[in-house]
Amino acid sequence: MATIVFDQITKTFFDGKKGGAFTAVNKANFEIKDKEFLVFVGPSGCGKTTSLRMIAGLEKQTEGNIYIDDQLVNHVHPKDRDIAMVFQDYALYPHMSIKQNLSFGLKNMKTEKTLIDDKVEYATKILGLDELLERKPRELSGGQRQRVAVGRAIVRDPKVFLFDEPLSNLDAKLRVQMRIELAELHQRLGATIVYVTHDQVEAMTLGQRIVVMNKGEIQQIASPQELYAKPANIFVAGFIGSPAMNFLPAKVASANEILIGDRLWPIPKEIKKMTEGYIGEEVIFGIRPEHIKLSLGEEGDLDVNIKVFEHLGAENLLYFSVNESDIIAKISGESFVRPGENVRVSFQMEKMHLFNKKTEQRIG
Ligand SMILES: Nc1ncnc2c1ncn2[C@@H]1O[C@H](COP(=O)(O)OP(=O)(O)OP(=O)(O)O)[C@@H](O)[C@H]1O
Ligand SMILES: [Mg+2]
Repeated sequence: MATIVFDQITKTFFDGKKGGAFTAVNKANFEIKDKEFLVFVGPSGCGKTTSLRMIAGLEKQTEGNIYIDDQLVNHVHPKDRDIAMVFQDYALYPHMSIKQNLSFGLKNMKTEKTLIDDKVEYATKILGLDELLERKPRELSGGQRQRVAVGRAIVRDPKVFLFDEPLSNLDAKLRVQMRIELAELHQRLGATIVYVTHDQVEAMTLGQRIVVMNKGEIQQIASPQELYAKPANIFVAGFIGSPAMNFLPAKVASANEILIGDRLWPIPKEIKKMTEGYIGEEVIFGIRPEHIKLSLGEEGDLDVNIKVFEHLGAENLLYFSVNESDIIAKISGESFVRPGENVRVSFQMEKMHLFNKKTEQRIG
């Protein structure tokens, strides 16, 4: 069993010289389930590493309680928390062989030699490190080094694995490969994993649940599917998905229609309830690029002038503006449009999102 609870956790850094205080994490509440793969995602400086370091006990929270397996760990030393952390730079010992790197932590804990050998062999097998054991870290590729860093965590057989952007030093192809390996590893080990990244694709593919953070505040905790379909606010809506969701100022004209610029768009029956209580109000309309379609000239669609056309292979991107807002549409790789061309597009209104203009929170 390994569950983790953050109960009203705040971390404030005090700058002794300037006498200032900076809140890196503000009143965070969440519960990580046993054997869960939970991902923290958010822009640089939003408090991801600080949160991870507080779980590990490497950073002490300013306020609030942390529980591991229902035990209050506020005063439990990092080495007694039974947690292994894999850092972004892997922190391997350069003068030691891979085998020594894997066994060093256990030796330090005065583990019996036969047990160390067993555990190192287990990790070696799981990660395919057999051929590399006698080499030094500098003789390994980035991906291999990353695997050794994970191996070093595995031999400790911890309750919880913490990963801080472990793939950010790898090239794109290797990142995809290691991502698959990590997902498989999670299944094989049946371990609780907390994983930090600023890459939303990594978050969406690895996380069973995702914690989206911004400026020290948790914005939403949800499954990848829910984050995509029902982002809680404009920040999450713009952060999850690539290219990002398009936003346009709008006004709910009636229960059946929404005014975007100078055009009325019908609100599909199924989502009519969304606008309850917002009739007559100004709102922010959101539509994902993949929910804008090239239309075949049907009545009532939108005429736009294509500024840029990007050919990506499986799909193409169209750039244009609507009422002076820049809009991106993602269309099939087989559809071609020339820059400067006038085309008709339509919004898939059943996929629309609405946000409160003042609070930026999701409506409906
Ligand atoms: N020891 C410290 N003293 C003062 N401020 C700190 C300290 N550690 C972190 N911070 C600040 O706290 C905020 C959160 O930092 P943190 O490292 O958690 O961000 P992050 O989300 O991991 O970002 P990145 O994606 O860049 O790694 C940042 O603004 C950072 O400058
Ligand atoms: Mg960080």
